[in-house]
Amino acid sequence: MEVKIEKLDNFGRGITYIGGVICFVRRALPGEIVKIEIIKRTKKYLEAKVVEYLKLSTKRIKDKCPYALECGGCDLGHLAYMYENYYKEEKVKDVLYKYAHITNKKIKNIIFTEEYFYRNKIILHVINKKIGFYKNKTNELVEINDCLLVSEKIKELFPFLKKLVVINDIKEIIIRSSNDNQSIMVKLVGKVTDYKDIISYVDVLYINDTLVTKKDALVTSIGKKNYQVSIDSFFQINKDLTTKLYDVILEEVKNNNYKRVLDLYCGTGSIGIYISEYVAEVIGVDYNNENVSDAYVNKNLNKSKNISFICAKVEEVIASFKDIDLIIVDPPRSGLDKNSIENIKRINPKKVIYVSCDLITLARDLKLLQEKYNVLYVQPVNMFPRTYHIECVCVLKLKEKI
Ligand SMILES: C[S@@+](CC[C@H](N)C(=O)[O-])C[C@H]1O[C@@H](n2cnc3c(N)ncnc32)[C@H](O)[C@@H]1O
Repeated sequence: MEVKIEKLDNFGRGITYIGGVICFVRRALPGEIVKIEIIKRTKKYLEAKVVEYLKLSTKRIKDKCPYALECGGCDLGHLAYMYENYYKEEKVKDVLYKYAHITNKKIKNIIFTEEYFYRNKIILHVINKKIGFYKNKTNELVEINDCLLVSEKIKELFPFLKKLVVINDIKEIIIRSSNDNQSIMVKLVGKVTDYKDIISYVDVLYINDTLVTKKDALVTSIGKKNYQVSIDSFFQINKDLTTKLYDVILEEVKNNNYKRVLDLYCGTGSIGIYISEYVAEVIGVDYNNENVSDAYVNKNLNKSKNISFICAKVEEVIASFKDIDLIIVDPPRSGLDKNSIENIKRINPKKVIYVSCDLITLARDLKLLQEKYNVLYVQPVNMFPRTYHIECVCVLKLKEKI
């Protein structure tokens, strides 16, 4: 069947309509005419794959990744990067207007940098001594020799890993590099007896939960701050753009004389520490032990005396806070729960800074927060180039009482 693609959906898939039913087509761009084959039918929608491209978009480029068709990692490798940024900016405008009535003029121009070599962390799977990523939504392995998204330091490790998996029984490999590309940390999961080939290349090595090297964690940096990151801790994955993301927050904090600041979902304390010298006190909350223990190391590394951390679920401790003048939230994709939103309103801070990696839950939560706060602006940041994901920083100000 021949169809014309009308636009892209939130996941970077082409949209067309067949007999009035919406149909999602992977790797098809607006304006393209394609021959498709339906691969999934439900009552509400169809999914199809392209069998033949009959008319190509001028915005299409040849995907630089040789694994693009099988690997589900990059949804937009076939769209010129300039248009990827345009698409993401428009998507932020559309979703936030549709679900939270935030007007376009409040959405700032997207911030972006290099589209490749940005990831400082990857998890590789190993099946039958082959290394790769799982194929889109399956447990089927796509064998790879390289990945265009990973940092140079991680890329250099691939030849060592190729040899290593042949002589050992490895299931999974977790790799992290420092943002300056100087050091690297690896965890090999499985039965590993011979690792002499990689030991000279890595700074930190774990075989399952056993530490092999002297160093047990990576030290990396964001702007002028240094951070320890343990193997299983959370850390922002874009080695170049995190500084710009945090600078958006810093600009909002500087010159505002905030006294007590809450950094909710604080991970390794990275945002709180980044802004700590401009406020009187920061309290970070995260439920992950490893994150919070890194956060305390990071407090000392950066001599941030005015920051403390609580290891707990935000929703379980938020009711205990009062007298806070700024709340920063950076939740996982699921966003904020209703109880936390109600408590943010009760605490009544002058401003709320919402850092989000999921547009739909951001829109949902902003709708509720807007009962008491005005959205001043939203800053999209393309932290995950070539994928459909987009990060946003939203600044909200307490409504004035009339
Ligand atoms: C998107 S990360 C943000 C981390 C940090 N702000 C940063 O920039 O690196 C979300 C963090 O929320 C934490 N988290 C997830 N659910 C939580 C909850 N219910 N209560 C507290 N922390 C939670 C995770 O451990 C993770 O560190």
